[in-house]
Amino acid sequence: MPKVTFCGHSCVLFESAAGNAIFDPFLTGNPTASHTPKEIPKLSAILLSHGHGDHVGDAVELAKRDGAPVIATYELASYCESQGAEAVGMNTGGSYDLGWARVKLVQAFHSSSYQTADGFIYTGMPNGILFTVEGKTVYHLGDTALFSDLGLIARRNGPIAVAFIPIGDHYTMGIEDAVEAWNLIRPSAAVPVHYNTFPPIRQDPDRFAAKVGALGGAVRVLAPGESMEF
Ligand code: NI
Ligand code: MN
Repeated sequence: MPKVTFCGHSCVLFESAAGNAIFDPFLTGNPTASHTPKEIPKLSAILLSHGHGDHVGDAVELAKRDGAPVIATYELASYCESQGAEAVGMNTGGSYDLGWARVKLVQAFHSSSYQTADGFIYTGMPNGILFTVEGKTVYHLGDTALFSDLGLIARRNGPIAVAFIPIGDHYTMGIEDAVEAWNLIRPSAAVPVHYNTFPPIRQDPDRFAAKVGALGGAVRVLAPGESMEF
C-alpha cells in the first residue's frame, strides 16, 4: 500500500513499491521539519507546487543526490535546471507520465517567485499537484485560496484518496475556507498542511478536523514525521 508521511509545513513524502516522491521539500530551515534531507529515502521525483522558498526548499540538492527530476511549472523547472538539477517543465492543466506515476498540474490561486540575494526570480504560475500511482490519486493543493473549480478538478480527476489542504490562513485559505475546499473535493481522507510552522499561520488542526467530521468527512491530523497508508 502506498504511504504518505507529513514532514512538516507543506512537505509530504510519498513512498510505494513503484517509487518514492516528495512534494515541496522544505526541510532545511523549517522549524517543524521531521527529517533532514539526508534522512529522506532515495527519490524518483521531486514535485514542486510553486517557487516560494518554503516549498522549493531542498529540491535541487535532493534532485542532484538521487538523479531524480524536479517536476514543476516551466519557469520554476528551468530555474532548478540552471542550478544543476534534472527537471521536467510543465504548465497548469498538463500531465506527465513518469512510467510508475502520473503527475498533473492544476490551478492554485496564489503567487509564485523565488527570492535570491539579487531579488525575485519569476517562477511561473503556482499549481496544485495530482499524483496517481497504482490507481490511487493524491491531491496536494499547494498554497491556494478557496476557489469553486476545486470541485471541477476533483470531478475530472477523482476519486481523490488523500488531499493535502492548507489551513494556515494569512498566506493561504484558513480553516473556514479549507472546510469548503474539502466539501468541493470530498477526498477519502484529508490531511491539513501549511500551519504552525511560523507564528502568522498558527491554527488548530483539530478544529478543521471537527468541522469536516461534522460534514461526514475524514481528516487525519498528522504530526510531523507521522505517516498514513491508503
Ligand atoms: Ni507560497
Ligand atoms: Mn507557502
